[in-house]
Amino acid sequence: MPQPLKIVYLVEPDARALARKTAQHVVEQAERAVAARGRARIAISGGSTPKTAFALLADPTQPWLARMPWAKLDLWWVDERCVPPDHPDSNYRMTREAMLDHVPLAASQIHRIEGELEPETAAARYESEMRNCFRLEGAEMPRFDVVALGMGPDGHTASLFPHTQALFELGRLAVANHVEAKDSWRVTLTWPVINRASHVFFLVAGADKAQILKDVWMGPRDVERWPSQLIYPADGILTLLLDRAAAALVPPPDANGCGTIERNA
Ligand code: 6PG
Repeated sequence: MPQPLKIVYLVEPDARALARKTAQHVVEQAERAVAARGRARIAISGGSTPKTAFALLADPTQPWLARMPWAKLDLWWVDERCVPPDHPDSNYRMTREAMLDHVPLAASQIHRIEGELEPETAAARYESEMRNCFRLEGAEMPRFDVVALGMGPDGHTASLFPHTQALFELGRLAVANHVEAKDSWRVTLTWPVINRASHVFFLVAGADKAQILKDVWMGPRDVERWPSQLIYPADGILTLLLDRAAAALVPPPDANGCGTIERNA
């Protein structure tokens, strides 16, 4: 029986404070990875929530641009929509506009999922890039230093959507996943890869996420319905960065804005 999952959630007053907390958290985790392993290999999510935090990391009036160890950072994506990199739905485009165009990352440090390709080809090429960059042998899986996740109102994370095939993929590093509910194809890291990371956190904001947060982390285990429940980091600790609106239905945090939930697998 695996050890109970300790969910540590940090609650910020509003979305702007949460974005600042997220920028600080990413820089701290990157510094920790570089100190421990000489590099920071970070996989980020797309969607809308992380955009403000990405912009803060690139903002020269904020402390993060100067503090982030950019030269030792490798940036990966947790998932991508199967669209060209300049498409309005592209996670890469969102990240490029908010951050990449304004920070000192070389092209060789940016590992984009090629959403413009046929989905399975994009997944296979992304997997191959991981194998080469992490120098993996055989069935080895990469160990990202940081994985930053979001959560949809349906309980999906990455592009692991309810009742989709990707939920059952244990051997691959990245897969193409057809999302019927969105009538679209995605490429996503598989959940075993996410769980191998040294540090995994969710960034969740807004009142529309309050109920799903409660369902996922305090409700019965039903991973096909709520795929975010598949996320179970190897060290048994999962961090949630929340704003007060999203945290409305979980137990109130302590005076420091910190709460914990213990959850069996
Ligand atoms: C994506 C993301 C996805 C996202 C959630 C939350 O490609 O959309 O990777 O998993 O994190 O859907 O999205 P919001 O931040 O827009 O609510």
